[in-house]
Amino acid sequence: MLHNIRTGCKTIDEILEGGIPNRKVSLIYGEAETGKTTLAMQCALNCARQKYKTLFVDCDGTFSAQRLSQIALKEFKDISELIILMKPNDFSEQTIVIDRLTDYITKSFGLVVIDTLTSLYRAEIAEYPEKTFNLNRELNRQMACLAQIAKTHKIVVLTTSQVRSVFNEALVSIEPVATRVLRFWADIIIAMKPTENPQIIRAILEKNPKKVLPATCHLKIEETGIHECLIH
Ligand SMILES: Nc1ncnc2c1ncn2[C@@H]1O[C@H](COP(=O)(O)OP(=O)(O)OP(=O)(O)O)[C@@H](O)[C@H]1O
Ligand SMILES: [Mg+2]
Repeated sequence: MLHNIRTGCKTIDEILEGGIPNRKVSLIYGEAETGKTTLAMQCALNCARQKYKTLFVDCDGTFSAQRLSQIALKEFKDISELIILMKPNDFSEQTIVIDRLTDYITKSFGLVVIDTLTSLYRAEIAEYPEKTFNLNRELNRQMACLAQIAKTHKIVVLTTSQVRSVFNEALVSIEPVATRVLRFWADIIIAMKPTENPQIIRAILEKNPKKVLPATCHLKIEETGIHECLIH
C-alpha cells in the first residue's frame, strides 16, 4: 500500500512525514494562479513514480498535457499512462463522477485529485441562486463521500479550491459556506498565498493531524514545476 505522496515541496513533505497521507482528504486552497493545479500534477507524478495510478478529475478544464510534460520531462510517457483524466462539464456530472468513484478505483490507484472541487458548484449557484441550500448540502455530501472512499479504498484524496480576494455580492454569501464545508472535511489544509513577486508563493500548512502549529515556506513557480525556495 502507498503511504504518502510527496508534493515536491521539501518543508511540507518533511512536516507531513513523507508527503500527503493516505486514507485522508487534503485540501490546497488559494487565489487564482497560485500553483494549486501545478502542485496537484506534481503529486500525480510522484504517485506514478511509486507505480500507482491517479484519477485526475479536472473540473476546470485546465489540465494541460504540455504543462505535465514540462514537469515530468523524460518520465512523461510512462507517467501519462498512469494518469486517468475525467472532465465533468457541470455540477451534476461532478456528482455522478464522485458517486461512481468506487467503480473506477481499483487497487492500482493511489490518488484521486479533484481540481477544482468548487468551480462547477459556484457556476451552478451563479445560475440558480435559489438552489443554494441544496447545492451546499450536495457539496457537503461529496466531501463526506471522498473522506469515506479515502479510508475504505486506502487512497490519497487531494482536492483544490479557489478563493478570491475581491468578493462580489453572490460570493459573499456562498464563499463562507463552501470554505466551512471543505475545512470541516479536510484533514490536511495547505493555503497558497500570493506575494509581491508573482512567481513566489507563500505556502502555509494550516491543518495537519500531527502538528498543531501552522508552518510556512516559500515556493517558486517555474517551468519545471513548483519547488521550495529560500527568501532572505
Ligand atoms: N511553463 C511555465 N513556466 C513558468 N511558470 C508557469 C509555466 N506554466 C504556468 N506557469 C505559472 O503557473 C501559474 C499557474 O499555476 P496553476 O495553474 O497551478 O495555478 P492555480 O492555482 O491552479 O490557478 P487557478 O486558480 O486559476 O486554477 C501561473 O502563475 C503561471 O504563470
Ligand atoms: Mg488550477
